[in-house]
Amino acid sequence: MGTEESFISQDTVCFHEDKGCMVIIDQTRLPFETRLLELYTQREIHDAIYLLQVRGAPAIGVAAAIGYDMAARELASQTESKTDFLKALKQAKDYLASSRPTAVNLFWALERMEQVTNACQGESIAIIVEQLHEEAKRIHDEDIEVCKKIGEYGITLIEPNNGILTHCNAGKLATVQYGTATAPMYLAKDRGYELKIFADETRPLLQGARLTAYELKEAGMDVTLICDNMASSVMKRGWIQAVFVGCDRVAANGDVANKIGTSGVAILAKHYQIPMYVCAPTSTIDLNTEDGEHICIEERPGEEITHLWYENPMGPEDICTYNPCFDVTDHELVTAIITENGIAYPPYSESLADVKRNK
Ligand code: MRU
Repeated sequence: MGTEESFISQDTVCFHEDKGCMVIIDQTRLPFETRLLELYTQREIHDAIYLLQVRGAPAIGVAAAIGYDMAARELASQTESKTDFLKALKQAKDYLASSRPTAVNLFWALERMEQVTNACQGESIAIIVEQLHEEAKRIHDEDIEVCKKIGEYGITLIEPNNGILTHCNAGKLATVQYGTATAPMYLAKDRGYELKIFADETRPLLQGARLTAYELKEAGMDVTLICDNMASSVMKRGWIQAVFVGCDRVAANGDVANKIGTSGVAILAKHYQIPMYVCAPTSTIDLNTEDGEHICIEERPGEEITHLWYENPMGPEDICTYNPCFDVTDHELVTAIITENGIAYPPYSESLADVKRNK
């Protein structure tokens, strides 16, 4: 079910206390329609993540936490046996975790929820459910604060008249509010900076065109939409002073998995001597993954390349396709990683552990 709502005032993902459901902005409908979706079942939540109705690493993490919380409530109403309850909750966790493989925030949030379950194992089911609800709220609320802090650190790297290029959507729509890569841009606007932002359209799902260009324009920013293959051209003209992107997983050595096309942008930025900044909540830093080689890259159906957005299929019938959803940018191409705990610079094998521990 859906309702028209003001886009700016609405959290991208939240729990509706009265209705007992998750509410998301359906990102597959933007920019044509701001439609809120109410999700009640585990299947609906799983599919909303898989179908990118809710997307972006931090937003997926928050959705997973709320999904786990909702699973606990539902299971509590179905059984009085704690053993059955805990077993079914583990199954619910595994099911949510199977929705998408790359953004580590999904697993991070589910782990965090499971730790609460484990810590409360001696308590009644009612207490476990209560504690899980509090944890899901914390994960939601923290996301907002984390993005604000990324904005504060990120703005120190920007001059008032800079041109900034961004790829995919690491904006409000990828988090609860503010975004990661866009948080410094929103803050810059509040401070009267006149940034000129270039948004890559981001083939094949057009998160840059449909989401970033939309949300920045709605916020009154100076944003110009370009095709992915125009990034070199605007950089060569001297219109870009910095690249800001988000990410789905940062490996311990600083390799960064983000939306397909990010590594190409990073290679161009290096060529034109433009700093390449990656904005990452510490929940996106995965010290257990050694390097980018070990990050699982989601592959999606080829129809997203050949059919989606087109009236007629664009490509010969039965053409072979390859549709990796993310790529890995080598750490050597990343100037700095901006987190809520500060800015990490190379060597990342040391600085990431420090920001993660908030040292
Ligand atoms: O497939 P998506 O749209 O979920 O991919 C999202 C991205 O790649 C974002 O850049 C990333 O999650 C950072 S969000 C702050």
